[in-house]
Amino acid sequence: MTTSDRYLAFANSAVGSRLADALGLPRPVPLERMPDYGDEVAEARAIHAPLAVVGGAGDAPLLPGLARELHWLGIPSLAHAGRLGWISYANKAGTMSGRFNANEGVRPKALLFDASAIADTGALASLYTFFHDTLASLDRCGRVLVLGLPPSIAATPHASTAQRALEGFVRSLAKELRRGATAQLLYIAPRARESLHSTLRFFLSPRAAYVSGQAITLQNPVFETPPMRDRRPLAGQVAVVTGAARGIGEAIATVLARDGAHVVCVDIPAAQDALSTVATRLDGSALACDITSPEAGATLIAHLSAHAPQGLDILVHNAGVTRDKTLVRMSDAQWQSVLDINVGAPQRLNSALLDAGALRAGSRVVGVASISGIAGNRGQTNYATSKAAVIGMVEAWSPILAERQISINAVAPGFIETKMTAAVPFAIREAGRRMNSLGQGGQPVDVAEAIAWLAHPASGALTGQVVRVCGQSLLGA
Ligand SMILES: NC(=O)c1ccc[n+]([C@@H]2O[C@H](COP(=O)([O-])OP(=O)(O)OC[C@H]3O[C@@H](n4cnc5c(N)ncnc54)[C@H](O)[C@@H]3O)[C@@H](O)[C@H]2O)c1
Repeated sequence: MTTSDRYLAFANSAVGSRLADALGLPRPVPLERMPDYGDEVAEARAIHAPLAVVGGAGDAPLLPGLARELHWLGIPSLAHAGRLGWISYANKAGTMSGRFNANEGVRPKALLFDASAIADTGALASLYTFFHDTLASLDRCGRVLVLGLPPSIAATPHASTAQRALEGFVRSLAKELRRGATAQLLYIAPRARESLHSTLRFFLSPRAAYVSGQAITLQNPVFETPPMRDRRPLAGQVAVVTGAARGIGEAIATVLARDGAHVVCVDIPAAQDALSTVATRLDGSALACDITSPEAGATLIAHLSAHAPQGLDILVHNAGVTRDKTLVRMSDAQWQSVLDINVGAPQRLNSALLDAGALRAGSRVVGVASISGIAGNRGQTNYATSKAAVIGMVEAWSPILAERQISINAVAPGFIETKMTAAVPFAIREAGRRMNSLGQGGQPVDVAEAIAWLAHPASGALTGQVVRVCGQSLLGA
């Protein structure tokens, strides 16, 4: 929790919570986040304590794979009524298992429902039954995951219609959750069933604290899924993070280094001191370079051949600026600089690295968009254009890069507590902070954890995705 969000602290104090209840004010709760690596006891508690209740519709084909993943994640599970087959899957996988009974007062941390076999809208009632029985038991900062089949590959128009309906269900349910809980929909293509690990590892842990109401598609993977390695999954890999001297970029560099990567931290020459401090702390390397300069690509390639000759595995286009003005008052320079830094330079860097063969097979490109690029924002025609363009870049390049076994995705942050948002006038800042399902701003680490998930070696089924890290902001679709 940042000290700047005084209301969050107040609403969770003894007096404040009573007052907030009496006045009908929102009561955002402090979200659970990952402890620092090194504190193994806290880490184990954060990841392995949860209990899951599992249900499904029809023959629920994803449940056997889910049992295996929960076993790997060390999460015990209970079967929802009518899902007794789960007990045998779970027993075979080695997770302790029994039947869920709402009257026993158990507090599951996760509710998982395999909806992928729902083939007509009538069968959607199974969602109602499962969540009607289980939702009130969900623990603080709990997780709801609904697993579906991408509507585009469903066998019949009726099945496709029903699968598309899951989005409305999950987005609404996410808005009903309280006490820091979140809900997501995972559409899983048939060959992606074996590629659930990194995604469940992300969503069933505090890493996904500020992601809610998202519909994410796991496609038939563009990569072989490598052997699992949960601690330091990026060991031996090289990552480039632009705008790494502070804010969200510093958090991204920190999380990727925590996960084992050598991080090349890039920022403008004016930020050299802060940049060197970050790179030294992370045992990475610093490259002071304005990404809009004509020689930026060549400079980066030269730096990589000196510091990481094996090639690049992860490229994060985080550097970005705002120059807010209504269009009539906006100068030509304000338009040009925002477009060039936020999307022109990332495109040129991609091309330079691809042409030089520096992005090797299996590598990951991640852009940083914004909910402004999805919903639009007054005074941000330049910024929203550039961030929508980042989304366009991901959509246009994902099929092309898939042929080279490279994924490209983006995160779209909402209101994140940084120096940038601390400078926003009070009333606008408070509105931005509270207008989401979790009633609070996110932390830079929340964006960083989402990027580490997309960059995880086992995330080969994720490409062309734009994942909002916005606490389910009320702005935009
Ligand atoms: N803070 C939020 O709430 C929020 C919300 C949505 C999206 N974002 C996006 O997240 C990213 C990081 O935002 P932040 O809040 O950490 O911003 P920030 O201003 O704190 O950090 C941006 C960093 O990018 C660097 N940078 C700017 N121009 C550069 C250039 N030409 N070459 C190299 N480096 C350059 C800056 O020096 C700075 O260190 C941006 O792309 C931003 O648009 C932020």
